[in-house]
Amino acid sequence: MSGTRPTGRLHIGHLVGALSQWAAFSRTDETFFEVADLHALTTAYERTASIENNVTELVLDLLAAGIDPVRSAIYLQSNIPQIPEMHLLLSMIVPVSWLQRVPTFKDQIAALGGDVATYGFLGYPLMQLVDIAIVRADTVPVGKDQLSHLEFGREVVRRFNHLYGPTLVEPQATLSEFPDVPGTDGRKMSKSYGNTIDIADDEPTTTKKVRSMVTDPLKIRRHDPGRPEICPVFKLHEIVNVPRVPAISAECRSGALGCVDCKTECAEALDIYMRPVRARRAAIDPAGVARILRDGEERTREIAAETIASVKDAMSIGRVAE
Ligand code: TRP
Repeated sequence: MSGTRPTGRLHIGHLVGALSQWAAFSRTDETFFEVADLHALTTAYERTASIENNVTELVLDLLAAGIDPVRSAIYLQSNIPQIPEMHLLLSMIVPVSWLQRVPTFKDQIAALGGDVATYGFLGYPLMQLVDIAIVRADTVPVGKDQLSHLEFGREVVRRFNHLYGPTLVEPQATLSEFPDVPGTDGRKMSKSYGNTIDIADDEPTTTKKVRSMVTDPLKIRRHDPGRPEICPVFKLHEIVNVPRVPAISAECRSGALGCVDCKTECAEALDIYMRPVRARRAAIDPAGVARILRDGEERTREIAAETIASVKDAMSIGRVAE
């Protein structure tokens, strides 16, 4: 099980990292992929109008990455009513200090200002644990930025099971080391830096973005020797143009290869890398997205209903003496 907030387009950094791992899991395991629109509300509550469109785009990006919509359940968080229900029940047993101690709580307030410090925002990691626990997931593929949320979630599960008996599954994060994909400015690719190449970009757009990438600042003229180890275009070659990497490295260093030609080749290799991704994205119409979500929601609500029943049962809640 994993999730993404519908706050904008996904980029090739996501694709090379998390999404390809999710796609692989979706072919071999029972998987749940959530569009976390309630989590998006924690920071976007003043501009909710764009969430709807972001949801469609996000699902298209997930499918483009190769997540199998038949074997996996892809669903909108807010359409699973058992999630807020279980969130409320668990909120009764979670000390506020545990939530305040999660590092992203203070970090996000420092980054985004006091307006994000709502009641719901404080509960962000608890809602994330509920996302995971409601489908009884044991494995959660996430980036290392999410590890503190998973650790918090495991503590909540242990507390619940200690108080009410073994009911919830303790989830494990699976971390894999992915290459950091460089953005066009050479920093890590990230939406907040505005340096992304998006999964939804077409060929002319990605070509233009690759052409605009920064290179070794000391390689000014074509025949100047370059330093591939500090060049973001070279790093991109290492991801999308693997067989040519040794030759490109040698030719850059010797000055035989100029940056313009190197970027042209990189953009072409990226087009080839993206061809199956773009084909999958183009093959789905937005009506198909709605159908996939409806189907995923039905399956998720089924397992969520079982979980919430066992949670209420364990807590002796919702029973009336006859
Ligand atoms: N917090 C995650 C992020 O920002 C998104 C998320 C929401 C999530 N619910 C989840 C991730 C459940 C894993 C499992 O990326």
